[in-house]
Amino acid sequence: MIGYYDIHTHIIPGVDDGPRSIELSRQILQQEYDDGVRTIICTSHWRRGMFEPSMRRLLANFEQVKEVAKEIGDDLTVLLGCEFHVNMEMIETLKNGERPTMAQTRYVLAEFKNNVEKKYMRERCYALLTHGYQPILAHPERYDVIRKDVDFLRDLIKMGCYVQINSQSVLGDDGFFMKLFCKKIIRENLVHFIGSDAHDMDKRRPTMGRCVQYLDKLMGPEYTRRILIDNPKKLLSDN
Ligand SMILES: [Fe+2]
Repeated sequence: MIGYYDIHTHIIPGVDDGPRSIELSRQILQQEYDDGVRTIICTSHWRRGMFEPSMRRLLANFEQVKEVAKEIGDDLTVLLGCEFHVNMEMIETLKNGERPTMAQTRYVLAEFKNNVEKKYMRERCYALLTHGYQPILAHPERYDVIRKDVDFLRDLIKMGCYVQINSQSVLGDDGFFMKLFCKKIIRENLVHFIGSDAHDMDKRRPTMGRCVQYLDKLMGPEYTRRILIDNPKKLLSDN
């Protein structure tokens, strides 16, 4: 099967801790293509004091990725997004267009630090929602407050958040307990998207092909389709 979507990737070279060269970007894209992925959102980090590439550089390097994607396959689409490390100025940053949303939709891939507090997380998600943005929580399986209290994740979803978990976490590449936790929230229907969060071809390589096989077995192909095709399609139509 082909036509999967990967909504969380670091493929643009030289803008964060993703690939350092366009050659490495090409290898990541090729692996995604071989895994059946046909639509990729490039979500390079934006994090104050750590990853602050200018929009000019981001756009220029994204153009290179588009060129390479075209060489790999006519049917391979790459779109621009952002993994936004949440801060107190994020609404202004987004409103001013200083950072992109997900493929020019209302969706925002929102990342928090691993030891984030519930109150801050709830308040920042609420701020995004009340300003007309649709938060997607990036890899919440990493946050202590979520792993210790699944009901808190449920509350955030009730509030209006969507949830994206990493394929490596799902597959157990980030440890057995992470895998168990992901299995639990998948089965409890608390997951809307799975992304690779690929950064390189080494420890954080793209694993969408293996993830498809795993999900088919765990939940059945209908579920795989919903998470890896239907939900991302809705995202892109800004539903
Ligand atoms: Fe990421």
